Amino acid sequence: MDLKIKAHSLLSENLDNCSVVVDATLGRGRDTLFLAKEISVKKVYAFDVQIQAIEESEHLLLGENCIKKVSLINECHSKVDSFVKEKINAAIFNLGYLPLSDKRVVTNAKTTLEAITKCLKLADEKFCLCVTSYRGHEGGEAEYNEVKDFFYSTFEKYEVFGDENNLKSPELFFYKR
Ligand SMILES: C[S@@+](CC[C@H](N)C(=O)[O-])C[C@H]1O[C@@H](n2cnc3c(N)ncnc32)[C@H](O)[C@@H]1O
Repeated sequence: MDLKIKAHSLLSENLDNCSVVVDATLGRGRDTLFLAKEISVKKVYAFDVQIQAIEESEHLLLGENCIKKVSLINECHSKVDSFVKEKINAAIFNLGYLPLSDKRVVTNAKTTLEAITKCLKLADEKFCLCVTSYRGHEGGEAEYNEVKDFFYSTFEKYEVFGDENNLKSPELFFYKR
């Protein structure tokens, strides 16, 4: 199962008109581009700590004529509440590092969970959350375990997608309110 496609279809199914969305891990901008193209999305706040990610994504969004709806924010996603001053309807996290880039710039459980917690505080009555967590890279397993525990202890009901026969494969955690 392609978890990126799965995350996008879950978001599409659950976003109503005029949705405000946080992309907590912009990377090369594929998730943000998808969101910016969705008619139901009014605004995307996209975060990345790497200026390379911001610049590449800006180029991509300009080329696709999709930049208007998007705020590109070169900051840690744990500061989401300093930049987003309105209710949000969805948040997407694609954890880990940017492929073909500096593997030392990688998400970590502490700021990831801080960002998720803040997104939940910003969440509107109708809200959904997609978190894809990877286990194969250094530190990935630890982050995955913390994300898994967080979902288990925070939500009564949520879904997990992935390959249950491969203990190193990524998993997509999905919660909707
Ligand atoms: C797997 S990539 C995201 C891929 C992206 N969603 C896409 O569609 O191209 C993870 C990204 O998270 C970024 N990142 C790492 N730590 C971060 C943090 N604390 N806050 C925001 N972004 C972070 C990395 O720089 C990297 O670009």
